[in-house]
Amino acid sequence: KKVVLAYSGGLDTSCAIKWLKDKGWDVVAYVGDVGQGEDFSLVEKRALKTGASKVYVGDLKGEFISDFILPALQARAAYEGKYLLATALTRPLIAKHLVEVAHREKAQAVAHGCTGKGNDQVRFEVTSRILDPKLQIVAPVREWEFKSREEEIDYAKAKGIPLTVTKKKVYSIDKNLWGISIECGVLEDPYVEPPKDAYQMTVAAEDAPDKPTYIEIDFEKGIPVGINGKKYDLQGLIAHLHEVAGKNGVGRVDMVENRLVGIKSREIYEFPAATCLYTAHRELEALVLDRELLHFKESLAPKYGEMVYYGLWYSELKNALDAFIKETQKRVTGSVRLKLHKGSCVVVGRKSVHSLYKEDLATYTEKDKFDQKLADGFIRLWGLPFQMRP
Ligand code: ARG
Ligand code: SIN
Repeated sequence: KKVVLAYSGGLDTSCAIKWLKDKGWDVVAYVGDVGQGEDFSLVEKRALKTGASKVYVGDLKGEFISDFILPALQARAAYEGKYLLATALTRPLIAKHLVEVAHREKAQAVAHGCTGKGNDQVRFEVTSRILDPKLQIVAPVREWEFKSREEEIDYAKAKGIPLTVTKKKVYSIDKNLWGISIECGVLEDPYVEPPKDAYQMTVAAEDAPDKPTYIEIDFEKGIPVGINGKKYDLQGLIAHLHEVAGKNGVGRVDMVENRLVGIKSREIYEFPAATCLYTAHRELEALVLDRELLHFKESLAPKYGEMVYYGLWYSELKNALDAFIKETQKRVTGSVRLKLHKGSCVVVGRKSVHSLYKEDLATYTEKDKFDQKLADGFIRLWGLPFQMRP
């Protein structure tokens, strides 16, 4: 019997290879490159050394950006108003490729290294079942008997699994090209301020430069295409924004969130690029979408965020939301100027060929074309329904 395991090279998935082999599985390791910045030749070697019969490394960065990040950005998806979903977005993508490799390898099962307390297990398994209900799912971390990370490390040592962790390594970190999620260690006390060393991509606001940095982001039909007039592909643009925003302390989130399995967890996040792009994209829509379309579209952002967080990426509702959002992006072309300064990211300017802002209607100068006499009748009729009470 054969299983395809989503492999990261870390402790959990390395122990999972050994554990699955002990249960009689032939283990194929699948490593999805979503921009976590690992040395994949090392990860591949570790998988083989630990007992995988074969390793796939899939470069998923392009697909991650075009099919997952971009729709989430255009929807401005967020969970509980704060989490920009960097980890959550990769799970359906990786699961989709696990299923494909399982088919290619004629494997009966897929496996992952998520715990039974988290969201990621739900996202992997729901996706796998939607795409192929016949595939079996194995979740070693949910089944094995280690009571702590220390015990797991002892197991790894006893089994000769090459280790990169020590018992002192405190945080659990999930990184990809859109952002980073950090939990565990001292962060488990939600009253404790995250220590400086917990953050990986951003400086503290107080350590950021005293002088602000201005950047102008150009969009074409809802897609970010340039910074300060220079064209970028999306991957380069995201990397550049991480750099500039990170230096200015922009993109940190510290939150207590409601997990799917019913518990609250404290997690910190860094999304420097996403923070700039969400802010700029929102402002451009404010300029080019009419009031009703803008308000209605914005009401969908929390729902879209829930669908991603809940692992329902491949659902009909999410598909239908995508179709609607795509329709709204036709005129989201223009530029937004941002001021990054000591942890803040604020809009200071915006322009578009599709702008609905009309200076001759908005102005209070002699250029005014707005007929103020019409307001009286408008207000009378507007309030009419509410003065009918006897
Ligand atoms: N809470 C986040 C989510 O559900 C991140 C989970 C993974 N985080 C981690 N540090 N390993 O998407
Ligand atoms: C995990 O359980 O593997 C990480 C945390 C989560 O999925 O929320």
